[in-house]
Amino acid sequence: MSNEWLDTLVVARREATSRIVVLDLAGPDGTELPEFAPGAHVDVLVDGSGGLVDGSDGLVRQYSLCGPPHERTRYRLAVLAETASRGGSLSMHRLREGDRLRISPPRNRFGVSATARRHLLLAGGIGVTPLLAMAHALEAAGAEYELHYCARSRAEAAFLDELEHHPRVRLHFDDGPDAQRFAVATAIGRPDPDTAIYVCGPGGFMDFVISSALAAGWGADAIHKERFAPTESAEAHKAGGTFTVRLAKSGGEYEVKEGDSVLDVLLAHGVDAPYSCQQGICGECIVRVLAGEPDHRDDILTDRERADGMFTTCSSRALSPTLELDL
Ligand code: FES
Repeated sequence: MSNEWLDTLVVARREATSRIVVLDLAGPDGTELPEFAPGAHVDVLVDGSGGLVDGSDGLVRQYSLCGPPHERTRYRLAVLAETASRGGSLSMHRLREGDRLRISPPRNRFGVSATARRHLLLAGGIGVTPLLAMAHALEAAGAEYELHYCARSRAEAAFLDELEHHPRVRLHFDDGPDAQRFAVATAIGRPDPDTAIYVCGPGGFMDFVISSALAAGWGADAIHKERFAPTESAEAHKAGGTFTVRLAKSGGEYEVKEGDSVLDVLLAHGVDAPYSCQQGICGECIVRVLAGEPDHRDDILTDRERADGMFTTCSSRALSPTLELDL
């Protein structure tokens, strides 16, 4: 988890839909907030009643920054109320102007491709948030891009005031006329080495878009994705036999049993290991494997990163009796 927290104030709050609240955060003294790249998110420390939390018993949740990245005096978050969640989003909905909120500095593993000349942004529901920041940045850079925003209905779509008549934006409502429905094959078109695809949204939407793009011949490297929820449960991440994790730098050796993650064991032994989401979706816990065979169970690493020895301690395990980490 972040060792460094920023205190912010909620300076604006509006209900974009009946389930989405948009919060603008600023530094308490009006100072500039840290720079962020489009696609970045922050960790937010919330409690059951909303407001600033100082203790470790607060909930930590990740929310994408959806305002223009050049805006340094305020960050914008959009939060969907998820009644089935552990309460983080409902706490965020209870925040009011003037409330304090503690956040981490921005982090990003979902950036804009530096090499693509064209960018296809495909958003499902609240997954529009990181893609909106990307659209702001691409617009400012004069880049070629197209944003497809899919929502169940017009009433459930946020940011329509800024998106509706934008020439680069296509809106798709499940309950709308056939002509505006999301046709994935048309949206992504044929594979093009100069185009990058970015997808964010609910798991089913992401799986549909990604499998459609792969089936159409797009390479996995062209598809950039960010998941808000893991494809496997925490129990599934922690299932499996016992193995030993060896730390190359400190020399520590610890047993990882069924029901524990590598990260659980490292933290229990006082190892200063990085982490944030503990769900295999943020990439904050990534370390390098030096020896042994990993059993990757995350939703963040690409095949290339796995081949390069990257490993998520929060969700992945070992197929070999011992795994040596660069820690
Ligand atoms: S802590 Fe987020 S991927 Fe491991």
